[in-house]
Amino acid sequence: MNNILVTGGTGFIGSHTCVELLEAGYNVIVMDNLSNSKEESINRIKTITGRDLKFYKADMLNISEMEQIFEENQIDAVIHFAGLKAVGESVAKPVEYYNNNITGTLNLIDVMRRHSCSTFVFSSSATVYGVTNKAPYTEDMPTSATNPYGYTKVMIEQILRDVCVADPSWSVVALRYFNPIGAHHSGLIGENPNGIPNNLIPYIAQVALGKLEKLSVYGNDYPTPDGTGVRDYIHVADLAKGHVYALRYAFEHKNFEPVNLGTGKGSSVLEIVNAYEKACSKEIKRAFAPRRAGDIAVSFADASKAKKLFGWQAQSTVEQMCEDSWNFTIKNPEGL
Ligand code: NAD
Ligand code: UFG
Repeated sequence: MNNILVTGGTGFIGSHTCVELLEAGYNVIVMDNLSNSKEESINRIKTITGRDLKFYKADMLNISEMEQIFEENQIDAVIHFAGLKAVGESVAKPVEYYNNNITGTLNLIDVMRRHSCSTFVFSSSATVYGVTNKAPYTEDMPTSATNPYGYTKVMIEQILRDVCVADPSWSVVALRYFNPIGAHHSGLIGENPNGIPNNLIPYIAQVALGKLEKLSVYGNDYPTPDGTGVRDYIHVADLAKGHVYALRYAFEHKNFEPVNLGTGKGSSVLEIVNAYEKACSKEIKRAFAPRRAGDIAVSFADASKAKKLFGWQAQSTVEQMCEDSWNFTIKNPEGL
């Protein structure tokens, strides 16, 4: 079976994808610098799957570390998750974000070229739809960004598109994730952010645990049914399975293909709070607060391309996503 290098494979989405790859029979080699994750993820992936995988603590900014991985392993394809992802931090540290995400990806492409590896699945984001397109988003819409993190995704997609034009042996699928939440149903791996969470579900989880007092609901005057922001939340296990489908597609087709991974359905902040309250059987204290800078009212996918190209479709309900998030949270209150 093929050997897949997973960059960022100890992180939230990467670790779930390693599980799906191993269960589908692929051999997995993980590379991560552990800047936002723990090596313990590797043990948990082994426990869930009963299979072994290789781990390299290595940095995308260090070309010789990546060269070593390609020299020691025959890599058939790369799934590239590694990157910095906090929108607010990217505004404060643009150079660090551009350097880590863009230079890191250029280094990776360079090493892949030297080793004749040209099959690539990239973690892009719905953030590339910017603020002027209207949901449901389709992959042919123009892309743009409002912060350095978003620009790294727009720019890396462009770089990969150009690589595919220059060298027709390349095959790239850029997966545009909507809002991944939830955790593996075992409760062994899940989302584990450092410090006070910025994202909705990790914040709610901390309120449910009693570590944070109340959720600030950013804006109740959006043009949505209950006035709060609407997003397309997708179970991380569904998202992870989408990578296995994308990989199969990339092995069989050459070219650059952007593909949404979402459910196609939006939920409001208050709907998520209600679903989480049911999942954890606790009250989630909340208070309305002003809109958060840079937020849009509504974001959800047109999910038809992934179904048409890969035969993949998300399965889980928002209720299941919240139950799995809570299961991971109570089993790992201090993280991994
Ligand atoms: P994560 O932070 O849990 O995982 C990213 C991993 O990359 C971490 O383990 C980190 O240690 C590693 N990393 C960062 N810089 C590195 C470097 N220079 N060298 C080696 N490893 C490095 O994040 P995640 O939520 O799993 O996101 C994975 C990818 O998906 C990211 O590219 C992110 O931008 C993208 N994405 C995430 C979301 C989301 O809501 N979680 C949404 C859209 C896109
Ligand atoms: N929200 C709150 N209170 C909070 C946190 C969030 O009300 O404490 C609201 C937001 O205003 C938004 C919704 O919950 O309406 C979701 O917010 P998140 O921060 O969880 O997610 P975003 O949609 O803002 O962004 C996420 C990732 C980005 C990615 C984007 C699209 O953080 O990196 O999805 O994939 F680009």
